[in-house]
Amino acid sequence: MDNKCVSLSQWCDGMENCTWGDDEIRLFRSNFLLQMYSNVTRKWENVCSDGWNDSLGKQACEKMGYERNTYVGYEEIDYILAKTDSLSSSNLTGFLSKTSDCPSNKAVALKCIDCGRNIGTRIVGGTTVTSKGVWPWQVSLHISGVHLCGGSVITPYWIITAAHCVHEKSDARVWTVYAGYLTLPEMLSATGRSVSRIVMHNFDPVTNENDIALMKLSSPLTITLNVRPVCLPNKGMYFTAPRDCYVTGWGSLFSGGSSSQTLQEAKIQLIDRTTCNSRLVYDGQITDTMICSGKLEGGVDSCQGDSGGPLVTKENSLWWLVGDTSWGDGCAFRNKPGVYGNVTYFLYWIHEQMRKY
Ligand code: ARG
Repeated sequence: MDNKCVSLSQWCDGMENCTWGDDEIRLFRSNFLLQMYSNVTRKWENVCSDGWNDSLGKQACEKMGYERNTYVGYEEIDYILAKTDSLSSSNLTGFLSKTSDCPSNKAVALKCIDCGRNIGTRIVGGTTVTSKGVWPWQVSLHISGVHLCGGSVITPYWIITAAHCVHEKSDARVWTVYAGYLTLPEMLSATGRSVSRIVMHNFDPVTNENDIALMKLSSPLTITLNVRPVCLPNKGMYFTAPRDCYVTGWGSLFSGGSSSQTLQEAKIQLIDRTTCNSRLVYDGQITDTMICSGKLEGGVDSCQGDSGGPLVTKENSLWWLVGDTSWGDGCAFRNKPGVYGNVTYFLYWIHEQMRKY
């Protein structure tokens, strides 16, 4: 028996005897395939597009913590193309007769927000960014007119940053967020955005475990060519070494330096956890909540002031947030690459917070 999509009759709409747990819904892989967890098959199943509509799409997006007004739409993907390795036949006949009720043989791919698009990237590693809109999700986080950390726009309301940026400064009122600027001086003459809430993960300042936090803005950003969200990874996306990534920020240009006045970008590669944990590199300090990226030969890296900012990669023509800048032993030293919060690891937590607050 081949796998079929889940029919709409199984959609959990808050009715009694609902088969689907309310939070048990996710987007899968870079094509945004909508999946639901079946308590019957105990597997994630694709959702059949028969009877699907935008109202259900918006409902699903809301369950994942998105605002209704960022909703883009859905596509129907050929079941064959949508087919996932993890699906295998089930022996629960009663259930299968329902799930195989998908005449179109198409699955739903759901876009909750227009994310990951930028304008004209002509990139050279380790250089000054000269046009707005290349890294439109990059924000600068200030306290009293001073740039302290970077961050990434993920929705008009939500910014991802590092927990270590906020853990001793967790009063939302002291922060100002600047989106859509290239230089620190232009921010000083602009009005930033105020923050209404800071949600920090269980950050451990000794080990840097769980170095991720969310900031909710008091009012939503207006999405323009220069201010746009990056895509949060979907489940089933694995970013593996030596994948090319880009890190951006106003951090110092060398170990011990002061913040850069203009936004910088650098092309670096993901480094696998085993290598990064080896004795010469970080000797066991890299946990599952972290991901290493940089150059083992040194020379290119993020640095102080880049923290909280984005580490992104391009896949399926979109930019995805792989990490948030977290720590490193000095900057750009040989065998001491940058360490980033592993965004893929935190997905459930991120969606949970966006839904809650
Ligand atoms: N902790 C630093 C900050 O607060 C980021 C350090 C990144 N270091 C590195 N070598 N990549 O800005």
